[in-house]
Amino acid sequence: MTDYVIADETEIQPRDGTIKLHGAAGFAGMRKAGRLAAEILDALVPLAVPGAVTADLDAVVREMTLAAGAIPATLGYRGYTHSCCISINHVVCHGIPSERVLRDGDIVNIDVTPLLDGWHGDSSRMFLVGDVPLKARRLVDVTYECLMIGIAAARPGARLGDIGAAIQAHAERQRYGVVREFCGHGVGRLFHDSPEVVHAAIAGTGPELKPGMIFTIEPMINLGKPGVKILEDGWTAVTRDRSLSAQFEHSIGITETGCEIFTESPQGLHCPPYQ
Ligand code: MF3
Ligand code: CO
Ligand code: CO
Repeated sequence: MTDYVIADETEIQPRDGTIKLHGAAGFAGMRKAGRLAAEILDALVPLAVPGAVTADLDAVVREMTLAAGAIPATLGYRGYTHSCCISINHVVCHGIPSERVLRDGDIVNIDVTPLLDGWHGDSSRMFLVGDVPLKARRLVDVTYECLMIGIAAARPGARLGDIGAAIQAHAERQRYGVVREFCGHGVGRLFHDSPEVVHAAIAGTGPELKPGMIFTIEPMINLGKPGVKILEDGWTAVTRDRSLSAQFEHSIGITETGCEIFTESPQGLHCPPYQ
């Protein structure tokens, strides 16, 4: 049994396992925070090129976020000290910005979460660095399709499991692996709230989707097997078989008729190729 509660949009309500149903104030807050996340990702498009240092991209994210009057939600989050995650090639997620230089052929996920006026806009996209081999480009394309197929399943009356079922079917049709260890999540005044949005699931299971729910969908899809492991740094998640991994993430809200994507690119830079 899932409990739904009307969200108090003015105060931070701790995570207690209930699903919050947001109103106009929550949607307005998420629209602004989500737009900023998308603008930051748009600005990274011309910067994610061969020779770019990932720590410098992180600095751009930090500066843009602060300039907009927001704070990078990852800064100081559970001891994380950077403004975004940059996950290259076989890194699944939570890659730490460093002196690593982007090289021709890399596929890169950049995940940003500006906290603006108390609301978290959580989104990530893939970037292709220079000439990327077809196999890797296909993985990136299919991963974007997985996100959008998941979003298409997000409407009132559907079940949460319908989202993961749609994503899993599409990924496994191409013999890709769907990562199980990391999920989408409720988002809003909290960075990570209930429910967990798994990306591999059985249709017709899980809580019913109701207008006012706000959560992320963020499938991580591996070219090989789904298994991941965490490196010594305690953050970096990589594929166990060292195969390439891709991810896209949007923050969405369930409406009366379907859903609203809060983190859509104002410039139409949804997925590569961006030029
Ligand atoms: N933005 C990530 C997500 O999509 C969370 C990153 S937490 C960090 O949920 F600490 F690793 F940055
Ligand atoms: Co997220
Ligand atoms: Co994210």
